[in-house]
Amino acid sequence: MIGLDLTREMLVEGRKIAAEKNIHNVDWVIGDAEHLPFQDDTFDLYAVRAAPHHFVDVDAFLAEAFRVLKPDRDAAFVDCAPPVPARDVLHEVEVRRDPSHIRSLTVEEWVTKLERAGFEVEAAQARELDWNYEEWMGNQGIAPGLSAELAGVIEAAEGEARVQLHPERRDGKLWHAYWHALIRAHKPGQ
Ligand SMILES: C[S@@+](CC[C@H](N)C(=O)[O-])C[C@H]1O[C@@H](n2cnc3c(N)ncnc32)[C@H](O)[C@@H]1O
Repeated sequence: MIGLDLTREMLVEGRKIAAEKNIHNVDWVIGDAEHLPFQDDTFDLYAVRAAPHHFVDVDAFLAEAFRVLKPDRDAAFVDCAPPVPARDVLHEVEVRRDPSHIRSLTVEEWVTKLERAGFEVEAAQARELDWNYEEWMGNQGIAPGLSAELAGVIEAAEGEARVQLHPERRDGKLWHAYWHALIRAHKPGQ
């Protein structure tokens, strides 16, 4: 098994978690998902989680995923995927919370891009999550002033975006909806 990330810090984290889970069959590689340092048809399974919204060129990343996967094998893609009206609101929050955020795709956009890359999409669904805003900001160490400002962006959402996000205060703390895409795709046999 190979774990890859652009940064050494995330690989250190991955190595730590693997050790805690008693997983020892992993090699850790610093690399770019858009230019993978592996030969064609190498892997029995390709999986990526919570990273594609940081990728500058999603089509290049999908072409690479397709290239390194063996024919007749599966790939799994997990990433944030709000529906369009909610995404338009969340985008401002995401980039100000983490400037390396580029763009979340909707499930429909995922399917279109995967098929264009050559995959057969076997399952694709968005899972709506009950999102703890304060914890989300805390993960990234966001200063209280900016956190309050960005909470205001979500709570000011109107129309369809507001219906989708349904922000509410529980004991004074903001909760709202968030979405993850869970996708399984197949690389056809030759
Ligand atoms: C939100 S973290 C998710 C980390 C991990 N995949 C997980 O599920 O916990 C996003 C990660 O994407 C990585 N990343 C961003 N652009 C990348 C690229 N082009 N190739 C590989 N990794 C990248 C970042 O370094 C960061 O560690």
